[in-house]
Amino acid sequence: MSFLTKEELTELKNQVNIADLISQYVSLVKSGKNYLGLCPFHGEKTPSFNVNAEKGFYHCFGCGKSGDAIDFIKDYKQVGFVDAVKDVADFAGITLNIENNGVEEKDNPNALLYDINNQAARLYHIVLTSTEIGEQARLYLEKRGITSEIIKQFNIGLAPDENDFIFENLAGKFDETVQANSGLFNFSSNKVFDAFQNRIMFPLKNEYGHVVGFSGRKWQEGDTSKAKYINTSATSIFDKSYELYNLDKAKPTISKTREVYLMEGFMDVIAAHKAGIFNVVATMGTALTDKHVKRLRKIAKNYVLIYDGDNAGQNAIYKAIDLIGESKTQIVRVPEGLDPDDYSKKYSLEALANLMENGRIQPTEFLIDYLKPENLSNLQNQLDFIEQMAPVIARVPSITAQDAFIRKLVEILPDFEYNQVEQSVNLKRENVLKSRAETGNFEESFGNFDEEQFSNYPDPGFISGEHEYYESFPLHQQEVIAPVRPQPNLSRSERAEEQLLNRMIYHQNVLQKFADDETFRFVHQRYQNLFEKIILEAMSFDEIDPSHFGTSLDAEEKNLFYQILSLDLPEETSSQELEDLVVVFAKEMEQIKFSELQKQLENAQKLGNKKRELELTIQIINQKKKI
Ligand code: CTP
Ligand code: MN
Repeated sequence: MSFLTKEELTELKNQVNIADLISQYVSLVKSGKNYLGLCPFHGEKTPSFNVNAEKGFYHCFGCGKSGDAIDFIKDYKQVGFVDAVKDVADFAGITLNIENNGVEEKDNPNALLYDINNQAARLYHIVLTSTEIGEQARLYLEKRGITSEIIKQFNIGLAPDENDFIFENLAGKFDETVQANSGLFNFSSNKVFDAFQNRIMFPLKNEYGHVVGFSGRKWQEGDTSKAKYINTSATSIFDKSYELYNLDKAKPTISKTREVYLMEGFMDVIAAHKAGIFNVVATMGTALTDKHVKRLRKIAKNYVLIYDGDNAGQNAIYKAIDLIGESKTQIVRVPEGLDPDDYSKKYSLEALANLMENGRIQPTEFLIDYLKPENLSNLQNQLDFIEQMAPVIARVPSITAQDAFIRKLVEILPDFEYNQVEQSVNLKRENVLKSRAETGNFEESFGNFDEEQFSNYPDPGFISGEHEYYESFPLHQQEVIAPVRPQPNLSRSERAEEQLLNRMIYHQNVLQKFADDETFRFVHQRYQNLFEKIILEAMSFDEIDPSHFGTSLDAEEKNLFYQILSLDLPEETSSQELEDLVVVFAKEMEQIKFSELQKQLENAQKLGNKKRELELTIQIINQKKKI
């Protein structure tokens, strides 16, 4: 499939900062010219994964994996070339001019399902934005503060009030299996209907920006259908308990800030977006699941819950805290029972932004309020409440904060004093410590406490059977401790040759000097080959650009090239350094010549060639002097 020329690809790669791109998935620290982190491709505890932003490549000294931005995405996300290119372009904020034309991307079995959904989204969008039928819907959206700009950004559309609009327009392009699995149609008594009719359409995209389904909102006054929103039913590309609305757009900001806002609905996400907060996703009506949390863990450390201010929203917060863990959660309570979108309408977008940033409370504070019994004059109610809150308070990392929470409880409880509540907390504290010791978690911060053994929230009914969502971070998520640079097992000469090649790549004048010297050659063939290719590249380009040069190398050469590029040398080079390097491997070169002459001499002796024997002996004596 030809879809971008080599030059266009090079340009794309040059537009992304590979360190920023990789930072989304691996935490990197600056180390000399390069960035260093734990390799995501093999388990390791000391970092040997190098990223060179200037030259646009990565190389792991541990496992040898290396490549450019596209290679990284391919390997890391296990996607095909085309998807990797799109991902990189997305990250760079570039829209690629590629029409999919139903071309099947062979490496992705779901390609046609993405395709049909993408095409449907395009049709819905056109109906909304460019037809007369769309006019009323546009007015409706405008009234709700959805500008044409937002309609474009979120690719919002309209399913017309017809039962076969999509079927008529798309079914012919896809075979029946694709139709049946697309989620776009309902099949009943031998007839096929569009699943969405007369609805405002919100395309649901996966994290790579592929449309995987839709949610359609009813919008006309007279619409008597029951559900406010209808969602695509589960398909092989859409799982409501896994997908998060807006994750595709929010991901870069989440990765950067390590923080994610969780909301309930589309309109809330859009309101936050309008207020200038982008690290926002929504669970689309379903409760937060362990699958949501598990995938967010890869990019986020902190979670801010901003659910609707109604009872359902508060119950959802309570469950979400348990699922995510108290130490990583903050809560924003939206006043007056409003949802974030309504709040922004009633007050302002700035007010919403301010609430989200500055109106956060800790889970303990939320829980005190949430679990507080209505009838507090009842002694048993008070006791139950203490029993519920004591373990929560005991898990708060700061003793000062624990003290504050105990005071807060005492304020609420008519029949209990500080000492009594504190005693309960102390009792639970001991449990916490014991359990910590038992699980060998003693060194861990309190931050890791809230899962598994502590998922003992008062109402066990909702706690899902499997708590498999708690797994340790993948290795590459750990903090980088100390930069260590493992050296491959190289001889002195090989090291000198690599260093010289590195200098040639970074300093044109060094390359020039050796290219002009006809007697010069590297001792080892692999370096000589690379040297020759670099000269060729330098003849057509001013600079050795790895994202271009890399494509002309085979896998082994590419690895060697990246390894050499990654050497962490001082910026400055000198002619003394170059001479010293050449001396190191020139000696080895003479040694090799010496051994060769000796071999030839042995041969001559075997053959009884006296004349040749004498010739060689003289040469060997001369050669010996050079070593
Ligand atoms: N939802 C759903 N199915 C429904 C109702 C709601 O999937 N029948 C999801 C939608 O993703 C919706 C979210 O739950 O955005 C929150 O629902 P709700 O608060 O009722 O809707 P709002 O987001 O407030 O939408 P609107 O402002 O348009 O009423
Ligand atoms: Mn709303």
